[in-house]
Amino acid sequence: MSAPSDSQRPPSQSYGAASSPQRIRPVADMEKIVSLCKRRGFIFQSSEIYGGLNGAWDYGPLGVELKRNLKNYWWRVMVHERDDVVGMDGSILTHPAVLKASGHVEGFSDPMIDCRSCKAHLRLDQLIEKKGVKQCPNCGGKDLTEARPFNLMFETHVGAAADESSIAYLRPETAQSIFVQFKNILEVSRKKLPFGIAQVGKAFRNEINPRNFTFRSREFEQMELEYFCRAEEGMKSLDYWLEERLKFYENIGILRDKLHARKVPDEERAFYSKGTYDIEYDFPFGRQELEGVAYRTDYDLQQHMKASGKSLEYFDEETKQRFVPHVVEPSAGVDRTVLALICEAYSEDEAPDEKGKMEKRVVLRFHPRIAPIKCAVFPLLKNKEQLVAKAKEIVDLLGPHMFVFYDESGTIGRRYRRQDEIGTPFGVTVDFETLGEKDAALGETVTLRERDSMKQERVAINDLPGILRSRIS
Ligand code: GAP
Repeated sequence: MSAPSDSQRPPSQSYGAASSPQRIRPVADMEKIVSLCKRRGFIFQSSEIYGGLNGAWDYGPLGVELKRNLKNYWWRVMVHERDDVVGMDGSILTHPAVLKASGHVEGFSDPMIDCRSCKAHLRLDQLIEKKGVKQCPNCGGKDLTEARPFNLMFETHVGAAADESSIAYLRPETAQSIFVQFKNILEVSRKKLPFGIAQVGKAFRNEINPRNFTFRSREFEQMELEYFCRAEEGMKSLDYWLEERLKFYENIGILRDKLHARKVPDEERAFYSKGTYDIEYDFPFGRQELEGVAYRTDYDLQQHMKASGKSLEYFDEETKQRFVPHVVEPSAGVDRTVLALICEAYSEDEAPDEKGKMEKRVVLRFHPRIAPIKCAVFPLLKNKEQLVAKAKEIVDLLGPHMFVFYDESGTIGRRYRRQDEIGTPFGVTVDFETLGEKDAALGETVTLRERDSMKQERVAINDLPGILRSRIS
């Protein structure tokens, strides 16, 4: 059953705007995004009431839904929909031997410089250069120290004694626990090469200058896959995963022309990598990395084998050969992707209010798959018991299938606007026709409104779960 668009519908059946929106401002700006994120409960500064903890962020009721939808979709396509990948969930506290073997204790550092004028600690690449002279970006000071390495790992102590013997680290990437558990997982999963181990979880880096909202944080989450293969398959696998990962971003609503696959040049690449791509996105603050796809050869497994003295070899039953597998690693940031999703979704357009006067409309045009709330349910009037009861019945009907929000306060137009601003793709309105009061044939039907086009259709309540599930999956 379908109904005409807003502009064609008689007023009694159509709620909110009376014509399609005009898109006037598709490009996001960071100030508006940060403010919307706070105002509507996506992202707050951590420890805000105590002045904030730099580089740490708390996700509010909508932010946590968005983040979960992203991580669940990643897990779905990277693990559940494949028969060559299994998952794991490693500990955050990491034995120092692991990070010594991987090279992090020695070399996981950024070059740091101090400004003697304003005392700022700066990453070398943050200095500005004027007329060939390096300057502090904060105060313009030219009195700078030499660059020195600053290790980005957070060190802590395990147990009561706080000495050398009790040092542990908060993991700087999830990857290392995958390498360290390679043998156990190989044995229990009985996978044959090529196969992958996936993990989603927190990582910590004591960044010298966290910045650009959540883009560079000290505590963040990664979604990493280590895909093990034979040496001769490495380069092909790198190209395969680059394409898969680009498709992933398109499937969550990031336009292909805002994504860029940058081939990392030899001089920038880790010495053990035979090929690396950065997948970059055009953020409002510039083109920046979302994910790295790296062919890490057999470096990590070899390092852990040498340091632990334990074999991390693979035995090929057919050829009866034993060897250390190579690995290709697509490594994505959850927080950076969430930020990209919000930037990509943010738009402003003009739409008519209830009286037909054009007003500004802020819309987060999230792909329904990742939108925090999938459907809002509104009784046309909150003081009509039957409308309210029917709307609550619909909430109960949809609840097991998706995250639904019930709202009865304010005019229907205002309620739509509130949902548009947080990116809810569908709105269901229960009206007198639903109750069969005007036309018995329309009894048990509702208005289903789509966020971007604002088009409305009339659908049977019983069809709602199926229709919505097919549009959000
Ligand atoms: N295991 C490989 C690895 O960790 P990386 O390029 O250092 O590689 C992978 O990190 C991804 O993790 C990045 O592309 C980014 O999305 C995310 N990431 C890294 N550092 C981050 C930070 N300080 N804040 C937020 N996300 C970060």
